[in-house]
Amino acid sequence: MEILTNTSLAGYNTFGIDVQAARLVHYDSVEELQSLLWQREREGDTMPLLHIGGGSNLLFMGDVAATVLHSRIKDIVVTADEGDNVYVRVGAGVTWDAWVQYAIDSGWHGLENLSGIPGEVGAAAVQNIGAYGAEAKDAIIYVDTVNLQSAEVRHFAAGELDYGYRTSRFKTDLRGRYAVTYVHFRLSHSFKPQLGYGGLGSTLRERGIADYDLTPQALRQLVIEIRNSKLPDPAQLGNAGSFFKNPVVERDVYSRLAADYPTLPHYDAGEGRVKIPAAWLIEQAGWKGQSLGPAAVHDRQALVLVNRGGATGADIAALSRRITDDVRTRFGIDIEPEVNFI
Ligand code: EPU
Repeated sequence: MEILTNTSLAGYNTFGIDVQAARLVHYDSVEELQSLLWQREREGDTMPLLHIGGGSNLLFMGDVAATVLHSRIKDIVVTADEGDNVYVRVGAGVTWDAWVQYAIDSGWHGLENLSGIPGEVGAAAVQNIGAYGAEAKDAIIYVDTVNLQSAEVRHFAAGELDYGYRTSRFKTDLRGRYAVTYVHFRLSHSFKPQLGYGGLGSTLRERGIADYDLTPQALRQLVIEIRNSKLPDPAQLGNAGSFFKNPVVERDVYSRLAADYPTLPHYDAGEGRVKIPAAWLIEQAGWKGQSLGPAAVHDRQALVLVNRGGATGADIAALSRRITDDVRTRFGIDIEPEVNFI
């Protein structure tokens, strides 16, 4: 366990915003987390707790008067291997993309489309990361947690967690109440590439690569290549990937808009609803590549807000508000941040 006091969180958020945490604790095991929580109870420590992952979906609005918890639980264990399925328990502190690479190297499939996503395994299970037609929830079967109040271990079946587009109960009624310690995945020994989304299939065809020639590693590389062509590297330009969620609207809202904007891209979201790319709305509203002080809209992906250097959380939030107001005025649609404001 490592405990730091009055320490900068600049290295713990991909926006690179420099705020101070009263205390930052990296713990290495479930037992360490529990002993920390028991000690807190014994000492009557009332400082709030804030659990972070890789910080790739956070916007710090100011100094954090809390004990910031961060997991360094990093073991990966096969718990069962039956027929085509392998069941693997992964520590919440494992870097997500290192896990994807490990799975591919081990001959376990299902995560290839989620290659290159920043962040850690625990947070992936909280917010149900997704890309190229796949979501973490497709592979998650259980989530192990520790109750931050009682220090008791609790196992959730994925079915109890109300997984949806970039959400789970850890973001709603269970928010702030549990630390994810392990995530259990069900992967497959056979490789069945999903190429129907985000230009994967069309890029392969352009390159003359037949589906049956595609290796898992090549699919991973292709996903990373497409991501890198649109998304800035946080090490070079602070950002948190998509800043907003894509809005899901009723079909009549979509039809009204489509009458005015025949090129409006859209996807079926089930239950008679339609998902519209927020990037398109933001670009049409004229914000792509625009700046407001040190905060800017990325010039290759309008859904990504960037820190051009020295931005505060308030700078990014001000740009976010201007964009949401503008999109509401022009299109009558509310877009919501995917990023958590802290
Ligand atoms: N578009 C624009 N202008 C732009 C960019 C995109 O008009 O500047 C339109 C285009 O019509 C494009 C459509 O938006 O076809 C969708 O764009 P893209 O495929 O880049 O995906 P996205 O909807 O912007 C979502 C996820 C990403 C994920 C990609 C790929 C959300 C909030 N974002 O972005 O996830 O990588 O799909 O599957 O759902 C993240 O959550 O941080 C993230 C990066």
